[in-house]
Amino acid sequence: MFSLIDVSKVFETNNTTYCALKNVNLEISEGEFVCLLGPSGCGKSTLLNMLAGFEVVSSGTIEFEKRTITSSSQDRMVFFQDASAALLPWLSVEENIHFGLKVRKISKELWPSITNRYLSMVELNEHRHKFPAQLSGGMRQRLQIARGLAVEPKVLLMDEPFAALDSLTRKKMHQFLLEIRQATKKTIVFVTHDISESIHLADRICLMSVGPESHITEVITINETFPRDLSDPKIAKIFKYIESTVLNEFREEF
Ligand SMILES: Nc1ncnc2c1ncn2[C@@H]1O[C@H](COP(=O)(O)OP(=O)(O)OP(=O)(O)O)[C@@H](O)[C@H]1O
Ligand SMILES: [Mg+2]
Repeated sequence: MFSLIDVSKVFETNNTTYCALKNVNLEISEGEFVCLLGPSGCGKSTLLNMLAGFEVVSSGTIEFEKRTITSSSQDRMVFFQDASAALLPWLSVEENIHFGLKVRKISKELWPSITNRYLSMVELNEHRHKFPAQLSGGMRQRLQIARGLAVEPKVLLMDEPFAALDSLTRKKMHQFLLEIRQATKKTIVFVTHDISESIHLADRICLMSVGPESHITEVITINETFPRDLSDPKIAKIFKYIESTVLNEFREEF
């Protein structure tokens, strides 16, 4: 679905240049759940924004369904950490969903069934008349997800969507996301710096090096079934391996 070939990104600001990413190579297949995992500032968001088409590559190419990405697309929906900023505060929960459908020119007759489907999926049906300010952080994030899914994108691009949530809510969100994935078979690229989050969710985890010139150092495939338990010896082994690899990366840096 995505094909990244020697992708680099250089930022130029005030006569200085910073090479955030250098020679990133990756293939992502349809239906896969891929995590980009790395320390703060390594270029995860930059890479995700290039997959979205928000940022252009400095060199190399990114193809989506065999076509070079030149701009953003309805097929690739981006979800941010700050759900409040993504939602319209003057519209109710259901109106926020309707707004997305209206923008995409989806026939009004279909709005009730689509809205019901996705609000049920994220368990917000009973809260449909509330406004975003009347929702908890986790509920807002679920609404952002429901609104995004309602317009049927092919890919979900998620940038640390649960990072601001407490650990119990985050756990619940992981269950939601795995169920949603099961129900919709969407391709998901998920950015995180949290090792256990990546292990709970991903089919493959791309480890990224510390910048500048960050790149994918290793791709770890996890075949274990969901839900995954960190106390399962196989899973614990993967956690330990990733942790030591990431720590080594840091040691080399300092
Ligand atoms: N618009 C920009 N102009 C200049 N430098 C930028 C710009 N955007 C990002 N950078 C730099 O590129 C590097 C990667 O940033 P990015 O936001 O992608 O990191 P990240 O891995 O998402 O970090 P975090 O985990 O903190 O969100 C950083 O050093 C950052 O300062
Ligand atoms: Mg980021």
